Amino acid sequence: MNDFSAERLFEGPIADEYEMLKRVCPQAAEMSRRVGEFVAAWTPPVGSGTLDVLEIGCGTGVTTLNLLHSRSDLRITGIDNAPAMLDQARRNLASDLEGERLRLVENDALSYLRRAPAQSFDIVASGYALHNFLEGYRRQVLEEVFRILRPGGVFVNGDRYALDDTLEHLRRTQAEAGEYFRIFLEMGRPDLLEQWIIHLFSDESPDHVMRLGPALALMQQIGYRPTAVHLREGVNALVSGVKP
Ligand SMILES: C[S@@+](CC[C@H](N)C(=O)[O-])C[C@H]1O[C@@H](n2cnc3c(N)ncnc32)[C@H](O)[C@@H]1O
Repeated sequence: MNDFSAERLFEGPIADEYEMLKRVCPQAAEMSRRVGEFVAAWTPPVGSGTLDVLEIGCGTGVTTLNLLHSRSDLRITGIDNAPAMLDQARRNLASDLEGERLRLVENDALSYLRRAPAQSFDIVASGYALHNFLEGYRRQVLEEVFRILRPGGVFVNGDRYALDDTLEHLRRTQAEAGEYFRIFLEMGRPDLLEQWIIHLFSDESPDHVMRLGPALALMQQIGYRPTAVHLREGVNALVSGVKP
């Protein structure tokens, strides 16, 4: 597929009013918090100094902020390909951007990863971004993440991971769509309702859907060992994989 226009889901009303995600999907912010918690508790390989962290799909900076607060020995690069999201991140993280601990880069995740040197990061973190990727693209991203991690480095992702029980997953998605209608119609915002329903269709399409079992199997296949699921709540999970 060469036309990525269907992938530009974080521009227009959804990006401009991204704060709305807290109402339609409070679990996303919770997964971001868990990513920060994981990094805070993570023990780096012996001899590591300042830890280089790459955040994929930093958006408006929700997960970035949790990473910044998680520990003081991090140097974070946040990448995102949506200018409207990054503009908000620059505002939300203005004081952190003045120092040496954080930089934000506007780029496509895979393009950035392909140019990054092998073994150049200790941690690759992400919150609620990978489920937006097309399956083939996501595979390449995970392969590149593995390449750029230093031995002993870790990939951690707090994200929407579809249930392996497809019928139960469908039930939950139907309930979610119902919630969108309730919230946005109560607010008198059919315009946002339309955008979020379109977004949900994208997330749930067979080209995108990221089921937990196959996602872990893919990470194993690429070479991550061990892989772990630290938390499973509804359609969300906190997953990690170490580069041996
Ligand atoms: C649901 S938002 C999550 C943002 C943030 N991580 C958070 O915790 O709120 C997903 C983000 O991934 C970004 N994104 C999607 N596809 C991308 C790609 N191919 N390359 C870089 N960023 C991408 C979007 O622009 C968006 O900002």
